[in-house]
Amino acid sequence: MSDKRPDSNWVAVCREADIANEQFREFHLGEQPCFVFRRQGQLHAYRNQCPHLGITLNWMPERFMDLDNCFIHCANHGALFVPESGDCIAGPCEGDRLMAVALRVVDGSIEARL
Ligand code: FES
Repeated sequence: MSDKRPDSNWVAVCREADIANEQFREFHLGEQPCFVFRRQGQLHAYRNQCPHLGITLNWMPERFMDLDNCFIHCANHGALFVPESGDCIAGPCEGDRLMAVALRVVDGSIEARL
């Protein structure tokens, strides 16, 4: 994931050390709400936009997981997404997926772009 190519499209999100395992951080790329999280040591990021109706997934800040902490959960109508792939495995948009956001880590800082 380390990529140091100069590119003005990358946006600084936060320090990599600021995201513990199973922790989420919301941010914006332009007008687009997004979130990044760490799971089993790996960073993942998606647009915060449910493929069902195109609205944000969460009702509570930084809260995206279901009660069992297994799947990303859409609070609107209950769609469930595999955290590592964004694939929807249940709910009204089953078979669709969350849109991934590209990440890189430069000198300990997480940067993202659409
Ligand atoms: S808006 Fe996400 S399941 Fe309907």
